[in-house]
Amino acid sequence: CGIVGYIGKQKASAIILEGLKRLEYRGYDSTGIAVQQDRRFEVAKKIGRVDGLIKATSAQKIPGFSGIGHTRWATHGGVTDANAHPHVSSDGKIALIHNGVIENYASIKKFLLTKGYTFQSETDTEVLCNLIAYHYQKEPVPAEGSRFLESVRKTLRHVQGTYGIAVMCGDCAAEIVAARKGSPLILGVGDGEYMLASDVSAIISRTQNVVYLKDGELVHITAQGFGITTLEAEDVSPVVDKITWNIADAELGGYAHFMEKEIFEQPTALENTMRGRFSEDGSTAQFGGLNISAVDLRQVDRVHLLACGSAWHACLVTEHLIERFARLPVEVDYASEFRYRNMPLGSNTLFFTISQSGETIDTLAGMREAKRKGYKVLAVSNVVGSTIAREADGGVYQHVGPEIGVASTKAFTSQILIGAMLSLYLGRMRDMSFSEGVEVVNALKGTPDLVRKVLEQAPRIREIAKRFAHYHDFLFLGRLSLFPVALEGALKLKEISYIHAEGYPAAEMKHGPIALISENCPSVFFVPSGEMFNKVVSSMQEIKARKGKIIAIATANCDLPAGLADEVITIPECHESVLPVVATVPVQLLSYYIAVELNRDVDKPRNLAKSVTVE
Ligand code: G6P
Repeated sequence: CGIVGYIGKQKASAIILEGLKRLEYRGYDSTGIAVQQDRRFEVAKKIGRVDGLIKATSAQKIPGFSGIGHTRWATHGGVTDANAHPHVSSDGKIALIHNGVIENYASIKKFLLTKGYTFQSETDTEVLCNLIAYHYQKEPVPAEGSRFLESVRKTLRHVQGTYGIAVMCGDCAAEIVAARKGSPLILGVGDGEYMLASDVSAIISRTQNVVYLKDGELVHITAQGFGITTLEAEDVSPVVDKITWNIADAELGGYAHFMEKEIFEQPTALENTMRGRFSEDGSTAQFGGLNISAVDLRQVDRVHLLACGSAWHACLVTEHLIERFARLPVEVDYASEFRYRNMPLGSNTLFFTISQSGETIDTLAGMREAKRKGYKVLAVSNVVGSTIAREADGGVYQHVGPEIGVASTKAFTSQILIGAMLSLYLGRMRDMSFSEGVEVVNALKGTPDLVRKVLEQAPRIREIAKRFAHYHDFLFLGRLSLFPVALEGALKLKEISYIHAEGYPAAEMKHGPIALISENCPSVFFVPSGEMFNKVVSSMQEIKARKGKIIAIATANCDLPAGLADEVITIPECHESVLPVVATVPVQLLSYYIAVELNRDVDKPRNLAKSVTVE
């Protein structure tokens, strides 16, 4: 979900609504805003998108200089106007927006009902809101300090679960108290104004100065300034950081969708990912932020990768590359599973998490579990200052700029590229020779141009998409490092077009999925030249014999039997270290154009959210 808050000299509603539009990718079931006027809250909320809120209510006309807004991805309670945030306590004193889940909400609700508080919604958030109101009523007026702040602090000591909250109190004009535990929250420090947001894209149009709140911290903002304290009421001295992203990064810039923009941005994005990351002798990669010495890295005898979604696919590609170049055994886990598996782990295992947003709670929880067990955990993330980036012992930033389309594209290819660079780095510490290192470095440097070549084929891929958009099922099939790319192709298609698709290792297809094959279920095959070529061709023959249509994504020098594939998308011949990146681009385009053909909401597919901060 997305959080926005504002205190300043401008009309709060306009700024909050703009912020909400920029944050919509975090969840978009429903949305709402509360602006404070004197001792009242003007609240507007509605299911659906921010544009709907603006059109159907007078949200943008609400006067007032401080307010909070929210865009929701439902957890507790269905998608209804009543369940949308902000919530106002039944005594009208407190307004609140919340990301996360309050686990002990049922017992708190029971207690509050005995105290006369009433509930309009089914949400855990309204329980939190009424509990703050209860503590506010009970709290004595302090000689100094804020009764409002203390009531929030007291409440948070009673709740179990996760939260990022922003709260207003009817008695305190132009004041917001915000706090976090397990859900991101950033304070923007502008020119005579303050903003709160769950991520920087809501803030960058107004300021580049931000304070990243930590778990267990509360910020109390007034028109004059802000103060940060902990749940134990200790003062925290704030660190103001500068955001490097700029506003153009978060705008469409002439593209129809962010996903299209982000696909086409990939050559530049990949250049930015690699910048400054090769050694002077051009034989290996280098990383400034790993915080682990070469001597310690040399001791590592196993790598364990944790992630979710597309980032998990990037881990699978990285597994192949590390095994290939560094000859180290690698384990890849869904972060959500790792946390509960309690598997035996070696003593010299190095953990890596991959997370575009750096906020995915499953990944964060997996990472914390590994740290708890005493392991070093490094992270690959695109978001500077994100929770995962901060809690990791070190890591690598992707530097691809904000990714706004919910379906990951440029972040995914950049993660694979980092996986390749890490494999090279670990490999060069072990058995990889100088000359092989140079070969890999040169190959990696050439990736952006190879991706440019694939992008030139967009018009043709669009034509193919038109011919295939009416199917209801697809298989994506590839081998070795292209198997995870097949998984990613299937995921992209599912996510944005709602067409059922599955990814398999090409040879595994005959052990079950082949039952799906008919003229109604096409297959997308990855066909690289080299050792696997004949094997993949055999799998294609098996599909063809059952009347399955085939789209082949084949490297340039493949000698495919005539007529075997119904459509061939040719990708340049390339080094194995960059093949997974190059092969990903056609399936991104194919999924994108199929979704466009079907009139889907490409950037905000149903039920999804860009960054899932609940377990
Ligand atoms: C969500 C998104 C996916 C994404 C996954 C992991 O489920 O919908 O597209 O791959 O989270 O996100 P992360 O930010 O951790 O890479």
